[in-house]
Amino acid sequence: MAGEFGNPEVVQEEVDILLIGGGMACCGAAYEVVRWAEAAKAELGIDLKIKLVDKAALDRSGAVAQGLSAINTYIGPEQDPADYARMVSNDLMGITRDDLAYDLGRHVDESVHLFEEWGLPIWKVDENGERHDGSKGLPALKDGGKPVRSGKWQIMINGESYKWIVAEAAKKALGMDRIQERVFIVKLVNDKNDKNRIAGAVGFSVREHKVYVYKAKAILLAAGGCVNIFRPRSVGEGTGRAWYPVWNAGSTYAMAAEAGAELTMMENRFVPARFKDGYGPVGAWFLLFKAKAVNALGEVYMEKNKDLLNDYPPYGQAAVPASCLRNHLMLKEMKEGRGPIYMDTVTALAKLKETLSPREVKHLEAEAWEDFLDMCVGQCGIWVGENIEPDKKNSELMPTEPYLLGSHSGCCGIWVSGPEDVGAPTTEDHPEKDKIPAHLPQGWHWGYRSMTTVKGLFTAGDGVGASGHKFSSGSHAEGRIAAKAMVKYCIDHKDLKPELDTPVEQLVEEIYKPVRNFLQYKDYTTAIDVNPHYITPKMLQFRLQKIMDEYVAGVATYYTTNEHMLKVAEEKLEMLKEDAEKMRAKDLHELLRAWENYHRILTAEAHMKHIQFREETRYPGFYYRADKNFIDEKNWKCFVNSVYDKNTKKWTVFKRQHYDLVDKSKLFKTAAH
Ligand code: FAD
Ligand code: ADX
Repeated sequence: MAGEFGNPEVVQEEVDILLIGGGMACCGAAYEVVRWAEAAKAELGIDLKIKLVDKAALDRSGAVAQGLSAINTYIGPEQDPADYARMVSNDLMGITRDDLAYDLGRHVDESVHLFEEWGLPIWKVDENGERHDGSKGLPALKDGGKPVRSGKWQIMINGESYKWIVAEAAKKALGMDRIQERVFIVKLVNDKNDKNRIAGAVGFSVREHKVYVYKAKAILLAAGGCVNIFRPRSVGEGTGRAWYPVWNAGSTYAMAAEAGAELTMMENRFVPARFKDGYGPVGAWFLLFKAKAVNALGEVYMEKNKDLLNDYPPYGQAAVPASCLRNHLMLKEMKEGRGPIYMDTVTALAKLKETLSPREVKHLEAEAWEDFLDMCVGQCGIWVGENIEPDKKNSELMPTEPYLLGSHSGCCGIWVSGPEDVGAPTTEDHPEKDKIPAHLPQGWHWGYRSMTTVKGLFTAGDGVGASGHKFSSGSHAEGRIAAKAMVKYCIDHKDLKPELDTPVEQLVEEIYKPVRNFLQYKDYTTAIDVNPHYITPKMLQFRLQKIMDEYVAGVATYYTTNEHMLKVAEEKLEMLKEDAEKMRAKDLHELLRAWENYHRILTAEAHMKHIQFREETRYPGFYYRADKNFIDEKNWKCFVNSVYDKNTKKWTVFKRQHYDLVDKSKLFKTAAH
């Protein structure tokens, strides 16, 4: 029977593999899983049922929705995955999982080669060293074609339709009957017989009055990172504008935490320095156009303030200072009143004109626009609206509000099992060493690659913590890596029958609570938004953003907090969690907003608890603990991990030892990027 508002139809389905999300990671997984599932059928007679569920439509969902103009991770034949692992470690201030980064480094290029095969135009350099858009008849990368490198790891593309192309391959591989679009997953469900095993997931359609209940043996949770937990710089007329696409609301971290998965490095955040107001990307300007950022007096703060880097050994001595340290040098100028900060586009373009052919200059000028048109069209609006021609007028830069993510220049996320063949034996003296694979540090590998600490629950892309700088290509590759492991898991557990630990009726009621709140109380007042019994998702979101902004190192305090401010935040978030029970949903759109907020609150709480636990300032420029304003290598060169108990609603935060599997001494002598 078709559902109606307040009385949804319940659709139940049992599958072996459920992919949650339709972004780069899940598209990679969708492509790869079919290959291994077909092999399982042919060789073992095991017929795996697979489903992909995305809250939006695959063609334009996730962070790549608007398109991109560069692929930020391409290793190429001239570099080594170990160099890549070093760069990742350097940019994330030394605390990353080398096993994960190395593993990604040796697989990522294959995803890029697939993108090119599927039709993505990749810029090439010809035999005379001239740069060309797209392929222009030049060989494909896999056949020795030379990409145009904007930086050591990045290559240029014509990428407005990047996501469309990648999604098409995923759709072709899976077939639309195995893809469910516009279903928002609200929570994962553990197994009745083993609370540390996953058994399914529930969500609702954002278009129809339907609740979906899935049972699954293995789940890939790859629903992106988290935006809008901090008050954005753009408020009022600019509300909704942010660097990070607004639809990734921390679902990955919140749902994993509620299922009992161990999180890692949730204190880490990314504060991108971006073109002001439009949030346009800076990578192409810094790396390809060789532009410099200057203060209002025209001084290059990266040179002027470079002594500040000596405060943060050894990271301050790296050939390329980490992203957070670059922000740190910029913030000094802003705090001391020498703003605005500008990207000196005028000087950069004038210099390029001295060395390039007229054709190349024209191409480059077009690219300056295309860089924005491809991936951040709003920035073009700013340039047009403010009469900015980049060769004549510089553009303002600004550090944004903080975002949480694990695949761009951040590394918060979920603790996952690493590859089986990377690492040195370090568990010799462990009492249970026979049970632990000896090739990785204790606790880094426990069975299936990319599996979280909850059996059967996998993640990829923004979900995987302690290994940033994967970007679009790396997230796709990581989805493929996870898919292979999930098929193996299903084969090994072919007789497992997942059983939900909560009755379906109860799950449906939980999901529809905001609707019930509305229907029960809506006539209590005459103004639909004003009611003593409920709060609108929009107002609740403002409250969350205010708390995080003012107490947990948002833009209001120049990214500064301390233990006292964090204590206040802790109490306020506790109360916000209570009030979140009273969110209302007057339609399906608000139901979506309500649950996004719920995911945001848990993610924000994890972030706050981790910052509170780590008694140092590991990421100056991203956030400062004013009471612990230093890096403490002796006590805090470690992972901070946490586990959430959904019954008691309490977090347990703890340290995990860090190991360098790749020698980092090279970092501080040679160029890292
Ligand atoms: P996403 O691709 O974001 O996908 C998340 C998916 O989850 C989406 O399909 C979403 O609809 C779905 N989803 C979310 N919540 C739910 C839910 N509750 N239920 C169901 N589905 C859900 N990389 C580059 O290589 N080059 C660049 O120039 C570049 N620029 C970037 C610019 C920005 C602003 C950002 C944010 C990222 C950029 N990246 C770039 C990085 C790249 O986009 C990400 O690394 C990659 O998209 C991460 O993949 P993912 O699958 O983890 O998440
Ligand atoms: S994008 O996602 O919007 O394209 P961004 O502009 O930050 O990202 O950077 C793209 C790539 O360039 C990333 O790999 C980033 O680490 C690198 N990058 C950006 N600015 C610099 C810089 N000043 N120095 C070195 N690398 C940089």
